[in-house]
Amino acid sequence: MYATYIFPRLMDWVLRGERFQIERQRLLAPAQGVVLEIGFGTGLNLPHYPRTVTALHTVDPAPLLPQRVARRVARAPFPVHIQHVSAEGLPYADATFDYAVSTFTLCTIPDPVAALREVRRVLKPDGHFLFLEHGRSDDPATARWQDRLNPLQQCLACGCNLNRRIDHLVTQAALRLETIDRYRLPGVPRIGGEMYRGMACGNNPRAIITISE
Ligand SMILES: C[S@@+](CC[C@H](N)C(=O)[O-])C[C@H]1O[C@@H](n2cnc3c(N)ncnc32)[C@H](O)[C@@H]1O
Repeated sequence: MYATYIFPRLMDWVLRGERFQIERQRLLAPAQGVVLEIGFGTGLNLPHYPRTVTALHTVDPAPLLPQRVARRVARAPFPVHIQHVSAEGLPYADATFDYAVSTFTLCTIPDPVAALREVRRVLKPDGHFLFLEHGRSDDPATARWQDRLNPLQQCLACGCNLNRRIDHLVTQAALRLETIDRYRLPGVPRIGGEMYRGMACGNNPRAIITISE
């Protein structure tokens, strides 16, 4: 009851706030061509994809708020193909996508490294992975609180973890970080507002890492 009816509405309300929309727009600006989004949720990224996107394929095991999602999909200026499967086993051929996207999802996927290995597999050799995630703080005191509160968070937010090192997950999956921004989301309690925004690629040995706080 909570996971099907209450939490999706709460999640949709929180994650469509103005600050989150600014974050989504900024992340998705470089996306183009055929794009994969893992953890599609309620489709909150849809209005923020640029016109350079020609088709969007999405995966999410949960069919959240289907009527609301259908309305958002109908407004998209490109075809949207939705599959209710887990990102740990993507139903696509190798080297299919120009871009892959994850927003506020690597915190929740049960095996995020397996999912990211799948992302790497289905990205074209010159493809890119864009991510916008909350995760583990570099501040030891905050990280301790994240560890303490994680079991509660998992219950209240349907499997969400506060304490994952998102950059480590990306590199463990053999994706190469091209950019990574670390910052705190204003107006969000620090345990949930430590952000990782970045871009990674699968096979580009010339990628240069830039880090900004
Ligand atoms: C906090 S929501 C974020 C939704 C959306 N990405 C957004 O930015 O609004 C996390 C999403 O991850 C999805 N999820 C959970 N396990 C998953 C998995 N194994 N593969 C793909 N998505 C998953 C959930 O169903 C949920 O829609």
